[in-house]
Amino acid sequence: MLGEIVDYEDYDYREFWSGKKRSYEHLSEIYALKKLVSKKGKRFIDIGGGYGRLSSTYINLFPQTVLLDYSLKNLSVAKKELSKRSKSKIFFVASDAYDMPFKNFTFDFAISIRLIHHLTQPQNFFDEISRILTPQSFFILEYANKRNLKRMGKFLIRKGAENPFFYEPSMIGKNIYNFHPKFISDKLKLAEFKILKILSVSNFRLNFIKNIINPEILSKIDNIVQLPLGLIKTGPSIFVLSQKRDEKIEKISSAIEKIPWKCIYCKSDIIDEKEDELICNQCGAKFPIIGGIYDFRKK
Ligand SMILES: C[S@@+](CC[C@H](N)C(=O)[O-])C[C@H]1O[C@@H](n2cnc3c(N)ncnc32)[C@H](O)[C@@H]1O
Ligand SMILES: [Zn+2]
Repeated sequence: MLGEIVDYEDYDYREFWSGKKRSYEHLSEIYALKKLVSKKGKRFIDIGGGYGRLSSTYINLFPQTVLLDYSLKNLSVAKKELSKRSKSKIFFVASDAYDMPFKNFTFDFAISIRLIHHLTQPQNFFDEISRILTPQSFFILEYANKRNLKRMGKFLIRKGAENPFFYEPSMIGKNIYNFHPKFISDKLKLAEFKILKILSVSNFRLNFIKNIINPEILSKIDNIVQLPLGLIKTGPSIFVLSQKRDEKIEKISSAIEKIPWKCIYCKSDIIDEKEDELICNQCGAKFPIIGGIYDFRKK
């Protein structure tokens, strides 16, 4: 088993971020990404990118950008918004992040924010990302940190509170997992990633602070402390910039116009692109293009 999918089709994820309630976290995440994303290479992918909430940090940096998510609903919202703002080519792909429809070495930069907290097989996920990245390319991961300051405090004060120092992931709600920093760095290393930088984000996610300081100011303070607190990793959300190791590979095709698709069933890369579908030349599988969204969800 590769892993499960958490279905967002019947959930209004944009609503989750609307209003002022989570503005502080949203702005802090934008600050973090702006520090970590850089224009390196040709192809960029946001894995589990939802409706493109964080797209302002990368939208026109690369000649080609892929927004991948399992939810057609989130992707449709993204397509409507981003098609207007994007000056470069942007592809919307509905797919399972554990089994992505791209050839090896397709991307030069990948990010995945707030996805891994839904995944029970992080190692499979990291291996898959490593597979689609070119050697020495970059990956930014955000994960929910179980060993954060608030949890450590609770553990010290409250009898019976869960031990945040325990290495294995904890399930903190239905389909939501928090991770220990050491667990994440071990798994990234196994997938051939070297950690370059760590930011501790949303460090002031405490209601009494959020109620008295406005989100713009609080996120500006967060921006200042993200790097120093990254050394001790005490925030609830951790951003990790890592680099895939170097490796000798045959020349990567420099043709940039087309995405090098791969069939998710037979793994062939001979895919014919028609106006409203992709067809695998080897096994005959068909992948519809629905309203401009490439649909690779398994039937
Ligand atoms: C909490 S949202 C995060 C979205 C976006 N990264 C953000 O920060 O706004 C999680 C997203 O992961 C997607 N998702 C969950 N499991 C997935 C899987 N196995 N493969 C691809 N996407 C998945 C959901 O559809 C949802 O849009
Ligand atoms: Zn096939």
